[in-house]
Amino acid sequence: LNASFVVVRRVVERRELQVMANFKVNRVESSPIEGQKPGTSGLRKKVKVFTQPHYLHNFVQSTFNALSAEKVKGSTLVVSGDGRYYSKDAIQIIIKMAAANGVRRVWVGQNGLLSTPAVSAVVRERVGADGSKANGAFILTASHNPGGPNEDFGIKYNMENGGPAPEGITDKIFENTKIIKEYFIAEDLPDVDISAIGISNFSGPDGQFDVDVFDSASDYVKLMKSIFDFQSIQKLIASPQFSFCYDALHGVAGAYAKRIFVEELGAKESSLLNCVPKEDFGGGHPDPNLTYAKELVSRMGLGKNPDSNPPEFGAAADGDADRNMILGKRFFVTPSDSVAIIAANAVQAIPYFSSGLKGVARSMPTSAALDVVATSLNLKFFEVPTGWKFFGNLMDAGLCSVCGEESFGTGSDHIREKDGIWAVLAWLSILAHKNKDNLNGGNLVTVEDIVKQHWATFGRHYYTRYDYENVDAGAAKEVMAHLVKLQSSVTINTTIKGIRSDVADVASADEFEYKDPVDGSISKNQGIRYLFEDGSRLVFRLSGTGSEGATIRLYIEQYEKDSSKTGRDSQEALAPLVDVALKLSKMEEHTGRSAPTVIT
Ligand code: G6P
Ligand code: ZN
Repeated sequence: LNASFVVVRRVVERRELQVMANFKVNRVESSPIEGQKPGTSGLRKKVKVFTQPHYLHNFVQSTFNALSAEKVKGSTLVVSGDGRYYSKDAIQIIIKMAAANGVRRVWVGQNGLLSTPAVSAVVRERVGADGSKANGAFILTASHNPGGPNEDFGIKYNMENGGPAPEGITDKIFENTKIIKEYFIAEDLPDVDISAIGISNFSGPDGQFDVDVFDSASDYVKLMKSIFDFQSIQKLIASPQFSFCYDALHGVAGAYAKRIFVEELGAKESSLLNCVPKEDFGGGHPDPNLTYAKELVSRMGLGKNPDSNPPEFGAAADGDADRNMILGKRFFVTPSDSVAIIAANAVQAIPYFSSGLKGVARSMPTSAALDVVATSLNLKFFEVPTGWKFFGNLMDAGLCSVCGEESFGTGSDHIREKDGIWAVLAWLSILAHKNKDNLNGGNLVTVEDIVKQHWATFGRHYYTRYDYENVDAGAAKEVMAHLVKLQSSVTINTTIKGIRSDVADVASADEFEYKDPVDGSISKNQGIRYLFEDGSRLVFRLSGTGSEGATIRLYIEQYEKDSSKTGRDSQEALAPLVDVALKLSKMEEHTGRSAPTVIT
């Protein structure tokens, strides 16, 4: 560090630490690095790719260059994430680059931790000590992908509304990465201690620059308290008939779980599993589904080693806490059913929605359970491509209150990201509401009761998803090309009947295309759908979130209106359609895979 450095430390209110220092701006020559195209949710690559010289720097500078000048100069930027390996280094780099690019302040969650939904909440709700509001955020996460030196890192940019950057911006970022020649960084800015809450002040060529390290949970907790009736959830949790369990899979949800479930709602500490955030998620795969959330699955009396006395309610989150899985005692709630059930009960059970829902939405591959609720409650309904950003547009236009995806994402217009803890609080609210008169000794209405009651009223959408991960990219393209050809063939029903005679006829088939009702933008090639006459569907699409090879997803769904037939085992009920899907797509022939990698 150079001699012109003035470092003044003094203790201000709440023991905030101030550091005054001057910094210079360094211009560093760089050149394009291939493959920096942001996917569905930002740029995700192996840590080893991110730690190459200039790699992160190029992407961050390309993002600054893609934003209009006033969104950078003098702006307030949130930088934090799920705490995965390389986050701490990345935060220091981004702070130094923000300073050099004329950003006025950077807000960092303590220890660099902020869940994705909390970033969205902070961008929308937090007011700095000097009255400032955030203009955007870098979220450092690869979501549900494993972390550690040999695993994934990721970065994405969110806008002023708290939602992911729209394609217009991410395309520009990508274009910039292809022509980048230089980036700016304040190399002599000292590393900021992100473990200590407080504001550090610096001064550079553009004037003052602050780094504000704040408590990761308080803004988010405040928002949750304004949405849900915490007292009624407290009563549920305190009741001897009820028991609760939450698994953060060592992701950032742990930083919120203790505050919300234990301190605010009175759950026992022992109800928290894996709630200490770890850089490598304890070596696990932080994805809340029946395959990866093994410990919770056992605890809930499911899977290969079921506990004998499971709690009434269990839930899990992914690495950055935007996904959720909801379980009852020995019972799995599909994400598609979960959003439908939340929508059906929101007005009665959740104060935030008491004046009604503006509309509901689901992604295309998500089951049509939500559609049935929307029709019955006469709600506006939207079917959007996979990717949370499509919901954000509807929400900004006041068209949608509750939305969800089959990929374990559920949320509402309180923020512009899906929200894992929100989903758990929504379910606890529904349970509290349904049980408000029987917490003193009556029979508890369980998660399973609620789902089965829902099926009895609205019918059941049997649903399963087959994932073929890390398939050769060429083979994956072949499968899709084959299906596109087939989809327009007039003899499709003869072909299907040749495979199985016990499935309905295909009524229509297409490649899903979406015209955004708000900005008119068109998204093409969003998956191939076969819609059957009895309401069944087969959907094939390529994942947009993998970091290696291609992942083919096959979504299989069958609608059963007859309430005497809604209690079947779902794999058994779906077997004929699965058979059709695999043979129709010639999955094994094209990919060499006789079985999927994961079934959810
Ligand atoms: C992320 C996105 C979701 C999406 C999911 C699966 O979580 O935020 O919107 O549904 O990934 O996407 P994929 O393209 O891998 O099916
Ligand atoms: Zn996630």
